[in-house]
Amino acid sequence: MDKIIFFDTTLRDGEQAAGAGLNAQDKLEIARQLERLGIDVIEAGFPISSPGDFEAVELIAREIKKSCVCALSHANAEAVDRAWEAIKKAKRPRIHIFLSASDIHLLYQLKKSREEILESAREMVARAKKYCDDVEFSPMDATRTEPAYIYRIAEAVIKAGATTLNIPDTVGYATPHEYGDLIEGILKNVPNIGKTVVSVHCHDDLGLAVANSLEAVRRGARQVEATINGIGERAGNASLEEIVMALKTRSDFYNLSTNIDTTQIYKTSRLVSELTGFAVQPNKAIIGANAFRHQSGIHQDGIIKKAITYEIMDPKSVGIPASSLVLGKVSGRHAFKERLAELGYVLDDESFKHAFQAFKELADKKREVADRDIESLIAEELRTASEVYHLDHIEVSCGNHNIPTATVRLISPSGQTVADAALGTGPVDAVYEAINRIVKVPNKLTEFTVKSVTEGIDAIGEVLIRIESNGASYTGRGADTDIIVASAKAYMNALNRLLAVRKAKKD
Ligand code: KIV
Ligand code: ZN
Repeated sequence: MDKIIFFDTTLRDGEQAAGAGLNAQDKLEIARQLERLGIDVIEAGFPISSPGDFEAVELIAREIKKSCVCALSHANAEAVDRAWEAIKKAKRPRIHIFLSASDIHLLYQLKKSREEILESAREMVARAKKYCDDVEFSPMDATRTEPAYIYRIAEAVIKAGATTLNIPDTVGYATPHEYGDLIEGILKNVPNIGKTVVSVHCHDDLGLAVANSLEAVRRGARQVEATINGIGERAGNASLEEIVMALKTRSDFYNLSTNIDTTQIYKTSRLVSELTGFAVQPNKAIIGANAFRHQSGIHQDGIIKKAITYEIMDPKSVGIPASSLVLGKVSGRHAFKERLAELGYVLDDESFKHAFQAFKELADKKREVADRDIESLIAEELRTASEVYHLDHIEVSCGNHNIPTATVRLISPSGQTVADAALGTGPVDAVYEAINRIVKVPNKLTEFTVKSVTEGIDAIGEVLIRIESNGASYTGRGADTDIIVASAKAYMNALNRLLAVRKAKKD
């Protein structure tokens, strides 16, 4: 059985999605989880693009040992050198160089001839090869480029040392048949193609990214580039979990293996959604909340008799917890710890103490504590572990004949308690105004959503917000059975992330 190499670009192309705003620590946490998932190559970022990206790539390169760590680079000497600088400490480094190839890009954007492009590609691959054995090259906008020209570039970069040739459908334009033909054409017409791995990289502008990637592997590509939850530039990239599960579930058709531990998929998806602030749509294949829910009576009847009647995958195979045990008020430390372990969480003693206390408080308010509640509690615990300002107390008065008023008390970075109060157009506005009076960081709220974690009136409410300051966007999340408290926590979370970035810039 041939093996497919999985190249995850959540931290690079995924992070390019408008509003993702991951900081270096978030990226490292995702990279660690990608390694647990069994990703072969992690594209950690684009070092020349910003000092923050450089720092994140460097951090990941130092920490990640099993997966190959890749840095993206323009086809110019400065970018290649910077990419190498960021990943040189990695156990398995890779430099990925890209350069536009289509006449549309050459004419309107780069204003260069095909020959000039070919020469730059060759030269920069040779430069990267001096640093690192593992070099990938991508002719950008390949699906709108004349195939004969792609063959020429491919031959030249392979001769210069490229070990992976990636064929991006940059604007999500190709159809599966055409894309498959392009891959097959490359495999047949590039004389030295045997010295490289052919890779695919599809965008989802026409909703065809997964279909195109699968058709490409059927025609001989052996590396797939994709992102968790399909996040990415514009409509996103091919969704990694969908491709992995298609190859696994239909191994009778594809006959291809992977290194992916599919039981880590759910956890990885939740983590990426949590840290980027991009919710997963309920009907999303594989990891959407409804992906394994059966509503119709006939389907439910079939599932009870034999799951295979209406389920082509076992939810456990993607790591969705079986959820047989529901915790409650009388559940003790031991049961809570065991449930955490089943959900894949290992907490240090201090974090466990806080999480258990939060669980007890929740169980007092809510009759049954489900797995989704526990996940929400743990996420809250991890968020507060790295705070600059801590929300200590909040009090709100509102109603249809009241002027909404909020009092908040925060603990400052120096450990001081600071309190203030404000009026607002509503209770959340009043809380945010009161916090602003203390923290004093100008920003604009651009997104605010509330959703309940589980069904029922006593459910935890999760608030996701986005704020903008100095052109950068920061997400914040908060969870609580009281949605005003959840809103305050989300705002504190976003402000803390903003303050951490400011501090890092100053240091
Ligand atoms: O979509 C694209 O062309 C890219 C390249 C940088 C590989 O993301
Ligand atoms: Zn891309």
